[in-house]
Amino acid sequence: MEKSILITGCSSGIGHHVALGLRQRGYRVLATARKPEDVEHLEQQGFEACRLDLDDSDSIRQAVEWATRQTGGTLFALFNNGAFGQPGAIEDLSRDVLREQFETNLFGTHELTCRVLPIMRQQGYGRIIQHSSVLGLIALKYRGAYNASKFALEGLTDTLRLELRGSGIQVSLIDTGPVLSRFRENAYLKFKQNIDTQNSAHRRTYAAVERRLAAEGPHKKDPFTKRPEAVLVQVIKALEAPRARPRYYVTTPTWIFGILKRLLSSRALDQVLNAVSNRENR
Ligand SMILES: NC(=O)c1ccc[n+]([C@@H]2O[C@H](COP(=O)([O-])OP(=O)(O)OC[C@H]3O[C@@H](n4cnc5c(N)ncnc54)[C@H](OP(=O)(O)O)[C@@H]3O)[C@@H](O)[C@H]2O)c1
Repeated sequence: MEKSILITGCSSGIGHHVALGLRQRGYRVLATARKPEDVEHLEQQGFEACRLDLDDSDSIRQAVEWATRQTGGTLFALFNNGAFGQPGAIEDLSRDVLREQFETNLFGTHELTCRVLPIMRQQGYGRIIQHSSVLGLIALKYRGAYNASKFALEGLTDTLRLELRGSGIQVSLIDTGPVLSRFRENAYLKFKQNIDTQNSAHRRTYAAVERRLAAEGPHKKDPFTKRPEAVLVQVIKALEAPRARPRYYVTTPTWIFGILKRLLSSRALDQVLNAVSNRENR
């Protein structure tokens, strides 16, 4: 059986790294990206590449048709990786801005998954890996849109896993904590684009939020930020374990918060999360 995998969001960060790592491991990687210039760049790197914009149903359909043409109608795995973060306090998120967050992180991912499932059902096997986040397990202030989209992805995936029992298709979530990528840079663009800081009740805190988003690279003292390799290791497990786990945690913060969520009352957890949010937005 050929180990082919379709990956979204390969222009940068974790998606790009996982594409390189899986190719090196012998997978046939079908790499996708939102912008044509990134598709070209992927092709220059020797990938089979195609445009896939999660906000655009036509591009999702065309990318799946392309993938099945490339592989002769089979697909071993799908890594739903492409996403972005929209920072900003809940009360400063317009309906449209919240919708945009869900269009990409949830609805596009869902549509792509639904297009791939018939191929996997037909062949009687497959792996679907959903890139969630520690912020799909717990909430932090000023990340409400992203929190909501990843919580929703967790719920959708938990249901899908139950519904696919016995189908031969295994579904896993990767709950990633802080990892080096273009994520923060892209989130800062969305913040500047969509949040009216001057007319916000959170105006003063936003100065600190902006400082954090604008900071280049990882905080030198931050021992928790990992390189994308940490995600690759877990993706490989989700692809190759005979019985894939429902969740793979990446980074120490995910483990800490995952355990605290199980142990603490909501009120006690709020106290911890409030302190963490205040600390990061000082
Ligand atoms: N880095 C972290 O600390 C962290 C932590 C937890 C979870 N994650 C998850 O990791 C995944 C990858 O993020 P990253 O950290 O590698 O950040 P990144 O470097 O910003 O990469 C995000 C990727 O998603 C793509 N994307 C955004 N909107 C898209 C759309 N409409 N259609 C298709 N692709 C789209 C981006 O494409 P463009 O270049 O065209 O924008 C880019 O390729 C995401 O699911 C994110 O939620 C990251």
